[in-house]
Amino acid sequence: MIRIVILGTGNVAKHLFDAFLTQKGIETIQVYGRKRSSLIYFEEQTNVTSDFSKIKKADLYIIAISDEAIAKVSKQLAHLKGLIVHTSGSVPMTALASETRRGVFYPLQTFSTNKKVHFREIPICLEAENELDYKLLNKVASAISDKAVRIDSDQRKSVHIAAVFANNFTNHLYHTAQEVCNQNEIPFELLVPLIKETAAKIEYLSPFDAQTGPARRNDTGTIEKHMANLRSQNHKDLYSLLTKSIQSTYGKKL
Ligand SMILES: NC(=O)c1ccc[n+]([C@@H]2O[C@H](COP(=O)([O-])OP(=O)(O)OC[C@H]3O[C@@H](n4cnc5c(N)ncnc54)[C@H](OP(=O)(O)O)[C@@H]3O)[C@@H](O)[C@H]2O)c1
Repeated sequence: MIRIVILGTGNVAKHLFDAFLTQKGIETIQVYGRKRSSLIYFEEQTNVTSDFSKIKKADLYIIAISDEAIAKVSKQLAHLKGLIVHTSGSVPMTALASETRRGVFYPLQTFSTNKKVHFREIPICLEAENELDYKLLNKVASAISDKAVRIDSDQRKSVHIAAVFANNFTNHLYHTAQEVCNQNEIPFELLVPLIKETAAKIEYLSPFDAQTGPARRNDTGTIEKHMANLRSQNHKDLYSLLTKSIQSTYGKKL
């Protein structure tokens, strides 16, 4: 039996806790959270604590806590013998207290409250300082996901940057599209099938090959009309920047 303590009570902590609940051979023996009220979610199914001195002995401690607090919280665990990992895409493994056995357990997905995720499809990026610890992490990750991958801290930083482009920036562009719709009394729902199809396409086409639109065709007439129609300077700036990036990608003169 692999005994786990989860530290943190936010989105990642809850999703991991739920994923481990159904796994034989893995038990979350405790959840730490600094607020009593945040522990209610967990307390029917496991031991909970707000006191670092009451943290139980475990094989694995998963720090699912805001990036800026990871180092500080890990210092509170410096006396423990188990493997200590954090779940962040952008914090190096070495941010964890140097006296401890250290690693990283980074699920590459966006988690929100009340939105169920299918863990089996989520890549989990793993790192550990020694081989035995890596094997333990791989066992835990493989129990809940089909995509456990070994990635070092530098690669993880780049994966995180790539994810910001693919996820956060794309979502911001959905928001921009919604603003354009709202300004012109068009329901944003009209765009949803298009958004889904564009995302689905990259399973069988490279993003390079999948690109369509006036910038890819270098259709300057349409580009000029769109620029003239846009009402806000921010929308014009975004449209112009992305158009230039697409044109330079496909080797057209600006
Ligand atoms: N959300 C995602 O999509 C996602 C995806 C992959 C990885 N991650 C990583 O997973 C980690 C957790 O993210 P999350 O989305 O679960 O965050 P979250 O929902 O905002 O939860 C953050 C948790 O950290 C606790 N916390 C913050 N500062 C603390 C401190 N000084 N001492 C003790 N506890 C503290 C919070 O406690 P309070 O409630 O008391 O403030 C809360 O339980 C982060 O490293 C993040 O980068 C997030």
